[in-house]
Amino acid sequence: MRSVIQGLIVWVAAFTALAGPSAMASSDDAGHGDAHGASEEVELSGEVLVAASVCEAHELRFMKEQDPSLRIEIPAEYAGQWPSRSACVSAVEAWNPETPGPIQPIPFSHKHHAGEFGIDCLYCHSGTDRSSAAGVPSVELCMGCHAQFPPQYDEIEGIRILKNHWKEKTPVEWQQIYRLPEHVQFRHNRHISAGVECQRCHGAIEEMDKVYMTPDEFWKYGVPVKKPEMGWCINCHRQNDAKIDCVRCHY
Ligand code: HEC
Ligand code: HEC
Ligand code: HEC
Ligand code: HEC
Ligand code: HEC
Repeated sequence: MRSVIQGLIVWVAAFTALAGPSAMASSDDAGHGDAHGASEEVELSGEVLVAASVCEAHELRFMKEQDPSLRIEIPAEYAGQWPSRSACVSAVEAWNPETPGPIQPIPFSHKHHAGEFGIDCLYCHSGTDRSSAAGVPSVELCMGCHAQFPPQYDEIEGIRILKNHWKEKTPVEWQQIYRLPEHVQFRHNRHISAGVECQRCHGAIEEMDKVYMTPDEFWKYGVPVKKPEMGWCINCHRQNDAKIDCVRCHY
């Protein structure tokens, strides 16, 4: 029982942080899911837990399913379906400082986009089958979908940041995770056309809210430990009769 309540407070605090100025009691510095002011507020508000956003409403309903004795109140303006509960959860998870991988400027979830909604990897990383670099999608490509979403989505901070980049015409500064030294030549397109799946090298990206370099105990694909090392490239080349002479990979 106690842990249920604690869990609830953590969730509500995280969602309140995402929900931004209107719901945020205390701070601009709360950022990234760390909103202590908000959690105290929920604790003090007494027996009835009142939702202050659609995301919080989803969470309160979910908690009540687990513990029917909870008393919750969902104001009509927050009773809508969108953003979906899983969008809310993914946004929190994509900014979870406890999970591996860098915190990106927007809580963008592969699990939600590529997993749940099945958006093709190549739709966003169209460079992979055409050129050496996979590339990361432009703000314009994101807005191709998100410009059509109802305004309720602005409750997710990441959506507001995205729209702000759109308005200001500035790119999102994503942090690159996989990086080879300059002296190595790597081409995505050679691999994609040879039928090597993305997951062989990057792990189950479609299951990640926050992207991280997969550890080697990810047995299914045998991906590298901390960075793509030479031995890893060469092993797979040997197994697949691909070239292993030095100049193939080194200028
Ligand atoms: C093909 C359409 C499509 C494209 C392109 C797209 N999104 Fe989304 N996005 C969605 C859908 C669908 C949802 C989930 C809606 C829901 O469940 O309520 C979503 C949800 C989100 C969320 C909420 C948290 C999450 O990740 O689920 C964020 C933030 C987001 N998108 C950012 C982006 C960014 C940044 C880009 C560009 C890199 C992008 N989206 C490109 C369709 C798209
Ligand atoms: C809706 C657009 C979208 C889709 C679909 C998508 N990605 Fe991404 N991908 C991104 C964005 C934005 C980033 C940068 C932010 C991040 O790392 O989460 C990224 C980052 C990555 C990275 C990390 C790159 C690096 O080193 O920084 C990998 C690997 C990746 N994607 C693979 C995939 C794979 C595999 C799929 C299909 C299963 C996929 N992506 C589907 C938008 C997308
Ligand atoms: C044979 C292994 C391998 C495969 C297969 C592979 N990648 Fe990569 N990927 C890498 C390596 C290595 C890097 C780092 C490249 C560099 O630093 O030049 C990388 C980098 C990336 C990046 C970072 C941005 C960039 O342009 O370098 C993205 C995004 C990405 N891969 C997505 C994908 C997607 C999507 C697929 C499947 C369509 C895929 N990768 C298939 C090994 C692979
Ligand atoms: C999961 C297996 C796998 C991994 C891991 C892998 N490769 Fe490959 N690579 C292949 C295959 C298969 C081909 C053959 C493509 C062909 O024959 O056209 C290939 C082809 C290449 C080529 C083109 C060779 C030529 O004929 O000119 C280069 C360059 C290359 N890989 C570099 C790398 C580097 C660098 C890494 C590590 C960062 C790497 N590969 C990791 C499977 C892999
Ligand atoms: C299939 C691709 C591939 C082939 C073939 C290959 N290398 Fe490498 N090599 C790499 C990658 C990837 C790295 C970077 C690894 C890292 O960052 O730790 C690297 C790094 C190196 C380094 C730097 C080591 C270091 O610690 O930074 C040297 C030296 C080197 N290779 C020499 C060779 C020689 C000599 C050959 C031929 C016998 C060769 N390589 C063949 C992929 C390859």
